[in-house]
Amino acid sequence: MCGIVGYAGPKNVGDVLIRGLERLEYRGYDSAGVAIRSDDEIYVQKKKGRISDLFQGDLPTESLGIGHTRWATHGKPADKNAHPFLDCQENISIVHNGIIDNFNSIRDELTEKGHEFSSETDSEIIAHLIEENYDGDFLKSFKKTIRELEGSYAVVAIHKGSDELVVARNQSPLVIGIGSGENLVASDAPALLDYTKNIKYLQDGDIARITNQEVEIWDEDNTLVERETKRLNWDVEDAEKGGYEHFMLKEIFEQPKAIHDSLLGRLNNFEDVDFSKYDVDSVQFIACGTSAHAGYVGRYIFEKIAKVPCTVEVSSEYRYTSSSESSPFTIFFSQSGETLDTVAAAREANRRGCDTLAVTNVLDSSITREVDEVIYTQAGPEIGVAATKTFTTQVIILYLLAIELGLARGVLSKDEAENYKDELRTLPRKVERILDDKERIKKKTKRLAEAEDIFFVGRNINYPVALEGALKLKEIAYIHAAGYPAGELKHGPFALLTEETPVIALAVRDQTFEKMLGNIGEIAARDSPVFVVGDENKELKKLADERYFIPKVPPLFSPILMNVVLQLTAYYTAYRLDRDIDKPRNLAKSVTVE
Ligand code: AGP
Repeated sequence: MCGIVGYAGPKNVGDVLIRGLERLEYRGYDSAGVAIRSDDEIYVQKKKGRISDLFQGDLPTESLGIGHTRWATHGKPADKNAHPFLDCQENISIVHNGIIDNFNSIRDELTEKGHEFSSETDSEIIAHLIEENYDGDFLKSFKKTIRELEGSYAVVAIHKGSDELVVARNQSPLVIGIGSGENLVASDAPALLDYTKNIKYLQDGDIARITNQEVEIWDEDNTLVERETKRLNWDVEDAEKGGYEHFMLKEIFEQPKAIHDSLLGRLNNFEDVDFSKYDVDSVQFIACGTSAHAGYVGRYIFEKIAKVPCTVEVSSEYRYTSSSESSPFTIFFSQSGETLDTVAAAREANRRGCDTLAVTNVLDSSITREVDEVIYTQAGPEIGVAATKTFTTQVIILYLLAIELGLARGVLSKDEAENYKDELRTLPRKVERILDDKERIKKKTKRLAEAEDIFFVGRNINYPVALEGALKLKEIAYIHAAGYPAGELKHGPFALLTEETPVIALAVRDQTFEKMLGNIGEIAARDSPVFVVGDENKELKKLADERYFIPKVPPLFSPILMNVVLQLTAYYTAYRLDRDIDKPRNLAKSVTVE
């Protein structure tokens, strides 16, 4: 949800900013721009559109600058609403990610004082407020300005007479990259990987001053503080396409490794969460989008392995439910760790007295500061807007957590735990076998790409996989798709079934298999083309127009394999339609607005 970058150092600043913005473009791509301090002037270039369409001419090469790629909130995508913004005198320039809640009142006051605004955004007021507060000391005026803002923000500002970047963070991510003779700042660590792996994670309320030589950080009480420098274990190649046409395809293919890395060290000695510290008699999962689908899968896993009742809530709804008497152990999922609804839900769960755990892929992300326990998926950076390997690794973590909880609750024997772990060990190889079959899956998508509506149906643990399959297809192929429990179609949606409406049916040999066969028969009788994904079976072969059988796996572990087939199905359907797969329209990778 908007990406920002800043650089102070001897390199070609224009190049560094563009490189950083390209790496952050998944956060928003409605417009992009840079502001560079050069010869005591601030040079600004910005425009609606993608980074690749911008910056045709040369940009100044020194000495410091800021850049922004936008996901529109206040004001539609347009040149005038593109960041960076300048103050009236063109001395100061800012970029901002977040939402300033009190921008209307500040804008009115500043207008009365004679400031003129050129955009419809909330962000522009920040440049003018710094100008209003400026008394010759840039940092001081920035600090005063930040204290007047309400809402969420990651802000970076420069002054034409100063060689420093001044930055602030509150509920929007911002990290500082520590280089040698150069320092950087960005919304996300992957944007800095070309220059450094040494990262300082700012905390809410922090303000920092960054030059090419030093970094100073003040906390919310204006006390000078040290924030630990952490070393990233991601490489530049992790943030590059590595020969794949899209990040999404690369990330789908990285799943065997992501599963392996997420299991590594945890199968023999799980130390991430000590469940004996907690009294867990019910669990709730809270998340948004694909991460919420992982939560739904988690419900089945936990109920089966840890024998504990579970509920699932979407973050944006949880916050507004009436608080109940009980305080279930609460598990949050967020790939980015920055999804505002989920971070806010974590705060609410704490307020309600729940013990809390976050499963996230991003080190030190906002959610990690709101919960009692954190466990990291080891998926590596996920750049494609559509979540793939992070869903898979979230589900892997769920198996591990359920096993640990089952043992701690005394409802799972050591032998049973070992059997489950043996199954987990086989998953990377089984996923590889599906990936090796990509051409066969691709061929099956021809008919899907011609459809206007597609249904996904599943039962039990594969019902959430149907939801996820439908989300992926909507998101990247722009085809309307809906996921249903297979038994529900006849309660209404059957009215929509025609020979033009493909139904993707997920069928594995669990206790619902016979019922699923019946459901598929009912669908086929309406002449809808049926695409079956599941366990090999003669009946299914007869009923289905197209079929893909997954490698043998116990039903409990089938979501991992079934979902990989659906990821490839969505990918190749979108590919046939020539969609912008890594940057689908109107979306952004992490959603930091409510
Ligand atoms: C998934 O393909 C989506 N892009 C989206 O639903 C995403 O899962 C959701 O916004 C939650 O993001 P998070 O995991 O970073 O919190």
